[in-house]
Amino acid sequence: MSEKSPALQPPAADAAAANLWDQAAIGWNAHAGPIRAWLRASTELMLLSAGVRAGQRVLDVAAGTGEQTLEIAARVGPSGSVVATDLSARILAFAAARATDAGVSTVETLACDGEELPFADASFDAVVCRLGLMLFAAPDSGLAQMHRVARPGAKASVLVFSAPENNPCLAILASTAARHAGLERPDPFAPGSLLSLGRAGALQAMFARAGFQAVQSTRLSAPFVMPSARHYVDFVRDSGAPVIKMLAHLGPGAQEEAWSEMEQRLESFTTATGWAGPNELLLVTGTR
Ligand SMILES: C[S@@+](CC[C@H](N)C(=O)[O-])C[C@H]1O[C@@H](n2cnc3c(N)ncnc32)[C@H](O)[C@@H]1O
Repeated sequence: MSEKSPALQPPAADAAAANLWDQAAIGWNAHAGPIRAWLRASTELMLLSAGVRAGQRVLDVAAGTGEQTLEIAARVGPSGSVVATDLSARILAFAAARATDAGVSTVETLACDGEELPFADASFDAVVCRLGLMLFAAPDSGLAQMHRVARPGAKASVLVFSAPENNPCLAILASTAARHAGLERPDPFAPGSLLSLGRAGALQAMFARAGFQAVQSTRLSAPFVMPSARHYVDFVRDSGAPVIKMLAHLGPGAQEEAWSEMEQRLESFTTATGWAGPNELLLVTGTR
């Protein structure tokens, strides 16, 4: 698999966001195993809801290192195809390599902003976006684009984090990092933040505004299981771009203190067999 289309440069306004994920790309790729296990059941439901099946042309928005892209490729089979897009060209390079390594030739990668998809109207049979839309500066625009490129009758399925109270690990990470960084207590619903689309009914309303019909929303429990809180913090240190960004201006010692306090607070989710951080996702699906 190779990059068949020319990679577009993200517009300047998005360069910082792309750069953030460029930096986290290696970590996100290195932790592919735990991420796959964490999101396996939710991904299965997302692809089922989007009606992904053999022979289709599917768009994977904010595809990251392409873990779900390969799942889609397996479902559409040799007569179908997947276009994996992301703001970060670097993270997408891992998706391309992953497809090549798996001997899959039906995946195409294209670096572009999900708010400005460079595809013709009605050109996909299904559209999915796993844990990406909440990071968009303007998720309404992202959904409008998904709607535009989906063919009439096609479905779009999006997974995001749900309410802050059901994602306590993210709340702990954000509030601890903000305090150490001398920042205001973060507004969980601030645009572009991990929990920004978690307010009840918000994403469903956005789907309807974008023009989708028969919009359905489901809450999914997705605990992140790790051997220990330390392993989870190591994952965030390598891959959690928004948290890494908050601490970036601190010296190494001050950063270490912040990470250590996060680990200590996260110890409360230690179980008899290891560690399980509660997470709840929202799966929202609509029909063009
Ligand atoms: C948490 S990762 C999820 C990646 C992948 N979907 C997964 O579940 O493994 C979020 C991804 O969203 C991408 N992203 C953020 N804002 C974006 C935008 N406006 N357009 C396209 N991708 C974006 C980031 O570059 C990053 O790769």
